[in-house]
Amino acid sequence: MKPLIVLNLKTYLEGTGEGAVRIARACKEVGEASGIEIAIAPQFCDIYRVASQVDVPVYSQHLDGVGAGSFTGHAFAKCIKDAGAVGTLINHSECRLKLADIEASVTAAKGEGLRTIICTNNIATTAAAAALGPDYVAVEPPELIGSGIPVSKADPEVVTGSVAAVERIDPAVKVLCGAGISKGEDLKAAIELGSVGVLLASGIVKAKDPKAALEDLVSLI
Ligand code: G3P
Repeated sequence: MKPLIVLNLKTYLEGTGEGAVRIARACKEVGEASGIEIAIAPQFCDIYRVASQVDVPVYSQHLDGVGAGSFTGHAFAKCIKDAGAVGTLINHSECRLKLADIEASVTAAKGEGLRTIICTNNIATTAAAAALGPDYVAVEPPELIGSGIPVSKADPEVVTGSVAAVERIDPAVKVLCGAGISKGEDLKAAIELGSVGVLLASGIVKAKDPKAALEDLVSLI
């Protein structure tokens, strides 16, 4: 199976507005050249901008479990879908939710046919997330996020443990890992540990040349 790479732009300036479009073009070009799916998760306000200009899978960075109506300030699944997203992150360490809210977000996203990636911080939360039946869980030890130290080297047990936990609970759920991933060897190690791909950010978004950084990332697959 070809891996999935999801590039989270967070609120990095380099990935805001036209920067998001530039990085999305790099994702498309490297994805097409390598045959590997490279999706991008821009900020809410950039979903339409990116999705309408670049033919690349777009994910929202968050989605609330609300319906239509009196929900000021919420991220509504239908609006995210209509903006052009194909999926969403849920419960990132930088945007944590309670378990009931995660479930509501997954239900709302699925109701619109959006793919779901629940982010988790350890094996126990990975197991809980898998029980909610998302498409993916993405395990990311918070202390390694933005560190440049790849989870696949610094904490391989959290990846293998997550894969084993998910397999026991719902083998249909796939596992991604993230935190500190930036190089081809990091992605290769992540796959060897049993994950189907990576969720990453700073190593690409803040690179001098994000396209070259993406080319390096896929170079060993
Ligand atoms: O969502 C991806 C993320 O939290 C990992 O960030 O900068 O360590 O690749 P980074």
